[in-house]
Amino acid sequence: MPLGESPQGAILPSRIRFARMTAAEAIAANPRWYHSIELEPGLLTPGMVDLRTIAGLVLPDRVAGRALDVGTFDGFWAFELERRGASEVIGLDVGDAADAQWPPLQRARLEREAAAMGVELGLGFRLASEALGSKARRVVADVTEVTADDLGGPVDVAFLGSLLLHLRDPVAAIERLRALTTTLFVLEPISLRHTILAPRRTVARYQPLETTFNWWLPNLAALKEWVHQGGFDHVRFRGFHKPPGIEGTSVWHAALEAW
Ligand SMILES: C[S@@+](CC[C@H](N)C(=O)[O-])C[C@H]1O[C@@H](n2cnc3c(N)ncnc32)[C@H](O)[C@@H]1O
Repeated sequence: MPLGESPQGAILPSRIRFARMTAAEAIAANPRWYHSIELEPGLLTPGMVDLRTIAGLVLPDRVAGRALDVGTFDGFWAFELERRGASEVIGLDVGDAADAQWPPLQRARLEREAAAMGVELGLGFRLASEALGSKARRVVADVTEVTADDLGGPVDVAFLGSLLLHLRDPVAAIERLRALTTTLFVLEPISLRHTILAPRRTVARYQPLETTFNWWLPNLAALKEWVHQGGFDHVRFRGFHKPPGIEGTSVWHAALEAW
């Protein structure tokens, strides 16, 4: 038991700290999980998205150096980066759901809905991190504004998942990440239809009129071009994946590696 922890959560003199939360307590303490995370064998957070089966196809087996998970939510990818050997992991996110770049005409409704659903960004990350005994830390910043100083310096590897579709200017986010990392792994929703119909043409569907909080749905060529335009000279396609999920989250994604 680490110094300062007590067996039953009792307070130790001079080092006031509680025993680590159990996985079951952590799961119960969050009314709405986004990620399915196995906090201990057989105990899974009831997430909307289950990425466990594809993590090994998206990230390398071993990750070296400092790692950044961009748009971390409950931290599934941050904990994966840590499990794969990253020496330090930072989970980046905005402070509040309302800080996201929602389409202006949807903003008031989305703010009301987020409040009604009890979405508290950062709660799942804190609970999961504690239950897993993770050292990953969460930094609050917008991906299009984050600086190396915010992260304590540049990182060696970054992962970006299901975020570009929520940004007005996806290339601005990639440009910012290019300044922070050597290698970038990406897993983003794509239109399989427009990838098949126009494999060589860059096509991105403008979505504020047909979804509640998405800006774009690119085909594979457009997604690769966003990453290339943002400053990565090499962009390698690593596969299509359709992770299980609920409430319309189970859609086709493309995985990329860029450097
Ligand atoms: C759809 S979730 C994806 C979660 C995770 N990256 C994944 O792939 O499963 C989008 C995440 O990005 C965060 N986010 C949205 N806009 C952001 C921004 N401008 N800067 C940083 N994070 C943002 C959200 O708060 C949320 O945690």
